[in-house]
Amino acid sequence: KSIAVIIVAAGKGERASLDGSIDPKQYRPVGGKPVLARTVQAFLDLPFVTSVTAVIHADHADRYAALGFSNERLLAPVIGGTSRQASVLEGLKALAPQRPDLVLIQDAARPFAPPQVIGDVVEALERFEGALPTLRVIDTIKRSLDGRQVAATEDREQLFAAQTPQGFRFGQIFSAHMRASTIRRQFTDDAEIAEWAGLRVAMVAGHVDSFKITRPEDFARAERIFGGDIA
Ligand code: CTP
Ligand code: MG
Repeated sequence: KSIAVIIVAAGKGERASLDGSIDPKQYRPVGGKPVLARTVQAFLDLPFVTSVTAVIHADHADRYAALGFSNERLLAPVIGGTSRQASVLEGLKALAPQRPDLVLIQDAARPFAPPQVIGDVVEALERFEGALPTLRVIDTIKRSLDGRQVAATEDREQLFAAQTPQGFRFGQIFSAHMRASTIRRQFTDDAEIAEWAGLRVAMVAGHVDSFKITRPEDFARAERIFGGDIA
């Protein structure tokens, strides 16, 4: 089975930037190595991965080149779009001529991608059309219509937080994404597009350290994970 990986890295990282002058989050170092370099390497390290494609911002081509990768399984970067959804679609379009069997879609901003979790996602695709890692929600979740008054308390037993990589059969997610791009609705992850298209999506156990670097303080947490890592 051929397994392609798309790493979406075309965002501006606005919530992680304190003053707008520092590098976008995916190019900032954690444990001495840029976030995106770590994410790419995590997938290149897996022998069952056929190819890796990074989707980058048009303004970041020099930054991407400066990562210095040279690997025959790392394909040329693709320029993303104005939303995460649009960036994933650009990655899928670039892979279409190769028609991989499976595709894994990963946030660049999640540099810690445990091999066990990635393997579990791939394995789940033997029985399901999509798969993603999830974590049980820890906080009690309130629903509110106006953000002021509680309307309801959700049943936490039924709530799970979504992570990446999210895996799919290539042809199915490509056609679902193409159709999703023709309607107004914006989808927050690829599994939601799969669900909307009627595909059966499995959940596997995620990892607490596979969180998405989103705000400035998340770098301190990432440093604690990679701090002892000299690679
Ligand atoms: N992403 C992308 N193309 C976009 C927007 C986001 O490829 N137009 C990617 C980001 O680079 C990131 C992942 O999608 O790896 C998750 O998005 P998010 O954490 O929201 O990153 P940003 O959009 O860059 O951050 P922010 O929303 O704070 O600006
Ligand atoms: Mg964003």
